[in-house]
Amino acid sequence: MKLLVVGGGGREHAIIKKLKESPLCTEIWAAPGNGGIACDARCREIPATDIEGQAAFAKEEGFDYVVVAPDDPLALGLVDKLAAAGIPAFGPSAAAARIEASKVFSKDLMKKYGIPTAGYEVFTDPGEALVHIREKGVYPVVIKADGLALGKGVLICQSEAEAAEGLKEIMQDKKFGASGDRVVVEEFLTGPEVSVLAFSDGVTLKPMVSSMDHKRALDGDEGLNTGGMGTVAPNPYYTEEIAKVCMDTIFLPTLRAMQAEGCPFKGCLYFGLMLTPAGPKVIEYNCRFGDPETQVVLPLLEGDLLEIMLACTNGTLASTPVAASGQSAACVVLASGGYPEHYEKGKPITGLENGQLPGGGAVVYHAGTAQKGGQLVTAGGRVLGVTATAPTLEQAIEKAYAASGRIGFEGLHRRADIGRRALAALN
Ligand code: AMP
Ligand code: GLY
Repeated sequence: MKLLVVGGGGREHAIIKKLKESPLCTEIWAAPGNGGIACDARCREIPATDIEGQAAFAKEEGFDYVVVAPDDPLALGLVDKLAAAGIPAFGPSAAAARIEASKVFSKDLMKKYGIPTAGYEVFTDPGEALVHIREKGVYPVVIKADGLALGKGVLICQSEAEAAEGLKEIMQDKKFGASGDRVVVEEFLTGPEVSVLAFSDGVTLKPMVSSMDHKRALDGDEGLNTGGMGTVAPNPYYTEEIAKVCMDTIFLPTLRAMQAEGCPFKGCLYFGLMLTPAGPKVIEYNCRFGDPETQVVLPLLEGDLLEIMLACTNGTLASTPVAASGQSAACVVLASGGYPEHYEKGKPITGLENGQLPGGGAVVYHAGTAQKGGQLVTAGGRVLGVTATAPTLEQAIEKAYAASGRIGFEGLHRRADIGRRALAALN
């Protein structure tokens, strides 16, 4: 099969590497891809959000199957557009992608179907939102922009003044554009966070191994929120007992709710969970693989990713096994100094040959890299994700750090404590 993967980050690189292991895959392309993905796939410079351009390219090249990885093209309806052109694709329809693209949609879905989540109210008027927050008088309070906001549309406010400032940024200054026309004001929850990525064909759901993201820029969960500075899998807080509770009270009810709403979810459904004292609750859904969760989850997936994806599209997931290897994995992200705020690009990267570490020890997934005159250079905030697998989490973390230490570029920033909390939970 001739495959196209839409997107160009570390997640897409991990998907491409796994798809290439399938005997069914004869040719693979990425659009737009990046400097390191170019070592594994042919790349075509089409922005992921240009769904007209992506669909035209898919038709022109005659792809047999397209994997749409990022949220924006899913929310914009690329899978629907491809289906209309007779090209099967992995990922939800635009209607099903609302589970991520609209917080109001997902919160109302959870309320209607009794799926555990933080209590909330929806507002279109910042003044009314502030009155509500003042009357409740409970801090911190969480304010979320309704629409997609590059993972930055969530504010945790410690006081009324902070909430007023946050509401102004989102709803009046329109920091996230139309995504801030409505906000969800919700209750602040506490507890360990777990990410669970699950395959779904609309009727059957099969989870992959659990993982833990590290969203803050600095050690000790300090600093600004980022797209994710590293991940480990499995997540030790996610015991078998909790997994069963999640399946019964969250995963299957969500799948049935989407069916009942007339938009069955096909693709990879991401559950961002918090294990609160009152039980597991949904913090957010994503309509796609997580980044950088994918960089630890897929290396632990047993079997043929392409077969599983096709089963999601064709409705045959019930008869397709999804299993984990039983090993552990850790991914350390190497970022540009200053990320997630201002950072420089174009810094030469040392230590890699053909995008990988000579001698191995870990796999390098490229997020923000480019080829410039035969030299690999930085081209984004998150530059590389270095993933190691091993029989234990401790060994995987050690291997990932040792391997990432062999890579260099000016201004390189990495957290030194990826997996530390997970290890503490194990002991
Ligand atoms: P999100 O972009 O929805 O994943 O939110 C980003 C992060 O904000 C989450 O990973 C949580 O750490 C935090 N967060 C979101 N909602 C809540 C909540 N209701 N209570 C506590 N923390 C939250
Ligand atoms: N790592 C969180 C996300 O992909 O949204």
